Parts: sequence; C-alpha cells; structure tokens
Amino acid sequence: IPPEEKGKMDSLINLQIQKENPKVVNEIIIEDFCLPKAAYCRCWRSKTFLACDGSHSKHSELTGSDMCSRILKKKGL
Ligand code: FES
Repeated sequence: IPPEEKGKMDSLINLQIQKENPKVVNEIIIEDFCLPKAAYCRCWRSKTFLACDGSHSKHSELTGSDMCSRILKKKGL
C-alpha cells in the first residue's frame, strides 16, 4: 500500500460497516425506543452495530482509543 493510501486507511474509523454507502446514517425512531436503557456503538467495531457489543474494549486496548458506547436512557433512570 502506498504511504498516502496507508495514511487514509489509518485514519478511517469505520472499516467494515455499510461500506457500500458513501455515508452511514442510522435513524432511531424515538417511539420505538421501548427499552429503559440501550448502548449504541460509536467505535464502529461492534458485530451487532448499531448496538454496542463491547468490542470497543479490545479496540481501546489495541489503539489507546478512549471511545466508548453512547448510552440512551429514558428520563428518571
Ligand atoms: Fe462500539 Fe461498544 S462496540 S462502542
């Protein structure tokens, strides 16, 4: 891989999710959000993307990233 291409690859966060799309947009319908609490992936390494599966821990170990999931919860929890 030429150095400029390697630099591009190193800067990519999303390596495998919906790569056929120029931009990945996920929509969550608020009315369908029936769980009191849910964790959503921000590291792009989850095998259950859009949900966090804990893969960020290994990614953080390998890269030093401090990326964690985004937790959505209903008021009062
Ligand atoms: Fe990506 Fe948890 S697996 S944030």
